[in-house]
Amino acid sequence: MTAPEIINKVKNLPPISQAALKLVNLLEQAAISNDEIVQVIKCDNVLTAKLLRACNSPYFGLDEPVASVDQAVLMLGHQQILHIVLTLAFGSAMVVPLPGYAVEANELWRHSLLTATAAEIVAADAGDLNVDLPVAFTVGLLHDIGKLALSQAITPEVQGEIRQCIEQQGCARTEAETRILGTDHAEVGACLLKSWNLPEEILEAVANHHHPVCHPRPRLSVIAHMANCLAHLAGSAPGWDAFAVRVDPQAVAALELDQMRLEGLVVEVRSAFERVDQFMNMA
Ligand SMILES: [Fe+2]
Ligand SMILES: [Fe+2]
Repeated sequence: MTAPEIINKVKNLPPISQAALKLVNLLEQAAISNDEIVQVIKCDNVLTAKLLRACNSPYFGLDEPVASVDQAVLMLGHQQILHIVLTLAFGSAMVVPLPGYAVEANELWRHSLLTATAAEIVAADAGDLNVDLPVAFTVGLLHDIGKLALSQAITPEVQGEIRQCIEQQGCARTEAETRILGTDHAEVGACLLKSWNLPEEILEAVANHHHPVCHPRPRLSVIAHMANCLAHLAGSAPGWDAFAVRVDPQAVAALELDQMRLEGLVVEVRSAFERVDQFMNMA
């Protein structure tokens, strides 16, 4: 099967807010203004209502209740608002059990949020790559979204074959998926995001998060790869094959990380667990 065939087969993916998709496209611009963010969010009533409820939750501990999107952006700043909106928009799609991955409901979601947080940490650390933090967050959030589509498109027997390939032949998950299906969750994820018209750089990062592109210059997939590895190393382990994560030495070199810095990043990501749990309750 090809990735587009799998996407065509999947009928049950929850709809994603068009406003949130538009916002992800806007992130590509060099400087996105508060006003632009407000205008986009306001077009979606449901998203607006959820955003206001989230802003008024005890997590943010605001003195005054927030009554409008404009106020929310002013009080929390646009980076925080983007976090909330993306979390709300994609969370409902991801909080589902994925039987093919032995991943419980919420587990993929927790892993995705932790990877999003890790991606921001890696991007901030790798200043030379010049990656906007909200773009890094988005990529982390969406990197494994192909698992949603795959788990709905393939039968339990096929899932069993993939598992056997990993357990008995020591394949990495993406290798096993490619051998049995002809495509893998990274490619399927990028194909799904393409059908949502998301920007090319985000597709690249999702498509290559297990095989980051480091030459001739490191691409966004290097950040996605390292963030995913850090989320695993920090203990977010979705599914029975979670141990199978392999850190690409070329990505480590591209990010100029040594052992000590890598360990420091794992500690930073681990300390984000609590924040991630709070965010999960928001979606
Ligand atoms: Fe993955
Ligand atoms: Fe992952």
